[in-house]
Amino acid sequence: MNKQENDLNVFKQKTAGFVTLMTYYRCAMMEIETKLNVLNEEFSLAFERNPINSIQTRLKSLESIMGKLSRRSLPFTLSAIEENLNDIAGLRVICSFPEDVYMLSEALLKQDDVEFIEMKDYIKKPKENGYRSLHLIVAIPIFLAKEKRIMRVEIQLRTIAMDCWATLEHQLRYKKNNEFTEDMEKELIECAKLSAELDEKMDKLRKKINK
Ligand code: GTP
Ligand code: MG
Repeated sequence: MNKQENDLNVFKQKTAGFVTLMTYYRCAMMEIETKLNVLNEEFSLAFERNPINSIQTRLKSLESIMGKLSRRSLPFTLSAIEENLNDIAGLRVICSFPEDVYMLSEALLKQDDVEFIEMKDYIKKPKENGYRSLHLIVAIPIFLAKEKRIMRVEIQLRTIAMDCWATLEHQLRYKKNNEFTEDMEKELIECAKLSAELDEKMDKLRKKINK
């Protein structure tokens, strides 16, 4: 074995535990995504429209994981990650109407292999900056050849209008060297109000059409 091959082996041994854990989180995301797709199919059959517009999935990067552990003065260990971080596996579910957000969340939480951990309802009670979404933390089993693992997953459910605001706000806020004044904050809150109004108007229109 030459030096490069040896170095690669050593690196692989050192990172094997982390890579395995990330794979388990990816499997848990797949489980939740399938459950949501099943609900979407069923609903489409019954009501001839899709409650889910799209689903995005992401695994937290190693850099973000280390940043969060360090901010919370937690050790850089696999058990510290599993025990303390609930958002390693994340799904963002973009729905058509606010009602769909609650229907999907209820239907998912009712399933007997889905364990409820936490809910933050930023739709009923938006954040001060105007952010709206429904956040769930759940635990779900993944079935491996020789064991069953329970993994935590973060699910953010929001409408297209909520997602539009959150995506643009994130881009504006986190661009390097951007200066954020109080006036700009106010304008963003104004935009959030417009997005909430849009949801409300579209919902009224939907109800009128369905009558
Ligand atoms: P984190 O430590 O960042 O995970 O925050 P938290 O544990 O207090 O969770 P919370 O449920 O409040 O927010 C988690 C996630 O929601 C963030 O990582 C973002 O994806 C999203 N989020 C929360 N607040 C905002 C916001 O003001 N703007 C945008 N664009 N996204 C937000
Ligand atoms: Mg987070």
